Amino acid sequence: MSTDSSRRIQVPDELKEVLLQFSISYLVEQPPDLIDFAADYFNKLQANRPATGSTDNTADDNQSVNSQEGDAEPPAVQSTRRKSVFAEAYDPEADDDDDGATAVFPKTDEQRARLIESVKNVLLFRSLEKEQMNQVLDAMFERKVQPGDFIIRQGDDGDNFYVIESGIYKVYINDKHISTYTHTGLFGELALLYNMPRAATVQAETVGLLWAMDRQTFRRILLKSAFKKRKMYEELLNSVPMLKALQNYERMNLADALVTKTYEDGERIIKQGDAADGMYFIEEGTVSVRMDQDDSEIEISQLGKGQYFGELALVTHRPRAASVYATGGTVKLAFLDTDAFERILGFLTDVLKRNILMYEQMFTEMARRNTNL
Ligand code: CMP
Repeated sequence: MSTDSSRRIQVPDELKEVLLQFSISYLVEQPPDLIDFAADYFNKLQANRPATGSTDNTADDNQSVNSQEGDAEPPAVQSTRRKSVFAEAYDPEADDDDDGATAVFPKTDEQRARLIESVKNVLLFRSLEKEQMNQVLDAMFERKVQPGDFIIRQGDDGDNFYVIESGIYKVYINDKHISTYTHTGLFGELALLYNMPRAATVQAETVGLLWAMDRQTFRRILLKSAFKKRKMYEELLNSVPMLKALQNYERMNLADALVTKTYEDGERIIKQGDAADGMYFIEEGTVSVRMDQDDSEIEISQLGKGQYFGELALVTHRPRAASVYATGGTVKLAFLDTDAFERILGFLTDVLKRNILMYEQMFTEMARRNTNL
């Protein structure tokens, strides 16, 4: 058989990029009909195509934000958008979208205090070092919005990333209302993380206040850590059946919130009777679930990769019902704290409650076995 690579068909970079961007948009939005979505996507792409010969499509970027007179505007530090970054798989390490300038917006003590309060729960910032966090705080600037303002329009290039201090914001995909942010949360990170067009439109319902960060700063400080984290947990989160009920976008938010913890063989992870601080997804290894029985403990089950535990106490608001130990070697877990659990998985509580029935059956079986001993 011939192995002459010169006869292989060359896939042009432009085709790769267009198809990859389309695929990402499709996966993020999960529309009900692929063909309708594709028709709409490519029509919009054609309509928004910059004039031939122009490689600078940054000029009207800020029009997607209906800013107020007198608001601080970010300096024009953006470089050319949407380079051909999508090769076989997007690699942020190789995407050097950096011109060396970091914006600094001076703030009053009062502004800084409000900003710190607003970013307190931003999961994307969790893994930042202190120095990076200070850079983030310096680079953010305030933006007041009025009811009806379009902060982001689907299909635009990404200029800024936003953290909400106040206000209600509605999210639309293909003119369909998808979700609403009420006085908390962040948006606008996707286009900057994946170097793709805006996946959704975000419109203010009320007067509000946003903290914005320009694309350059976002990419310099946050891109690699956020991208890696989402990628790292992607496989795990896709393998947990309960999480199938989440939208792709919600699963990404969940990835931001997870923290990896490792335990050695025999180490206790959860102690029966303790107050609950979060739940765990098993990335690698096996755990043993045990309940107190007279003066000793008895194993009621073993759990492995892709399974989860510690959710019961979060759902029932009761102390831990059992202890959990690492068993058979090192165990790697992804931990989700109570706050993030309530914010992201709160609506899955009904699904989780079904497990309670299963646990009850397990406890009954355990009691039955003991009386037969
Ligand atoms: P970005 O694509 O940069 O701009 C629109 C933003 O809407 C997007 O980033 C997300 O931050 C936010 N958003 C909220 N819900 C969704 C969703 N279901 N799919 C995609 N983006 C969403």
